[in-house]
Amino acid sequence: MRDGPAPLSTRPRTLPPNDPRQYDDLAGEWWRPDGVFAMLHWLAAARAALVPPARRPGALLVDLGCGAGLLAPHLAGKGYRHVGVDLTRSALEQAAAHGVTVVNADATAVPLADGCADVVAAGEVLEHVPDWRRAVAEACRLLRPGGLLVLDTLNDTALSRLVAVRIGERLPTVPRGIHDPRLFVDDRELVRECARHGVALRVRGVRPEVGGLVAWLLRRAVPGLAGRMSDAGRPPRIVPTRSTAVLYQGRGVRSGVADAGRE
Ligand SMILES: C[S@@+](CC[C@H](N)C(=O)[O-])C[C@H]1O[C@@H](n2cnc3c(N)ncnc32)[C@H](O)[C@@H]1O
Repeated sequence: MRDGPAPLSTRPRTLPPNDPRQYDDLAGEWWRPDGVFAMLHWLAAARAALVPPARRPGALLVDLGCGAGLLAPHLAGKGYRHVGVDLTRSALEQAAAHGVTVVNADATAVPLADGCADVVAAGEVLEHVPDWRRAVAEACRLLRPGGLLVLDTLNDTALSRLVAVRIGERLPTVPRGIHDPRLFVDDRELVRECARHGVALRVRGVRPEVGGLVAWLLRRAVPGLAGRMSDAGRPPRIVPTRSTAVLYQGRGVRSGVADAGRE
């Protein structure tokens, strides 16, 4: 146990909410299954479950705000080329090491061609983008007709600010200060915005299963407990829930006739 404050050199910087430099400071956390990004791993598994196997050789999945590429292991065997777009170079280096073809760019101005993507994924990123509507427009622009958009984000509600920020950021599953709740995304507005760009998005609320989350928190808090628990090591599953008021997933298909022959 450490006595007193950490030496200056090891103390995390205090940065404004949602400052992208936080991801550099937390670069060593991305792939730690029990680290502060643990919940992103659980969400990545749930997001990937919405993605069907590729329908054609060379199918492209564009992962907006891909971070360190946590989606990659969950896409294995589905047949996509996984291209990740992110602002944070330190995260992209790790994504590349996990087989992602990386593009250092803003999700609101992606240097990829219209209609290039069979699937666009936008996991836990829209609530970090000051102009999320532009990111949605880009996601829809990148999709080929018949292409699939999958996303998850935090709703712009008082309950979401309470659960995801005031409570969530005090738990070891979410870095403190990573969210700016003013950027949270109203689900009805998101559905409308996607419709404007030709994607019929359907949303559903999701949450970590309570028993799994409690067991996970206990395992972290009490060293040695894991060996005595029947589900030792199993990460909590993300399950559907009736309300979209906090965390929600979206899935929608871009209108237009898919050109099966196009590579
Ligand atoms: C909460 S993390 C989610 C990462 C990844 N999607 C996942 O679920 O593991 C948010 C990511 O979005 C990136 N990001 C934030 N704003 C962005 C923007 N405007 N354009 C591209 N990436 C952005 C951050 O650098 C960070 O990697």
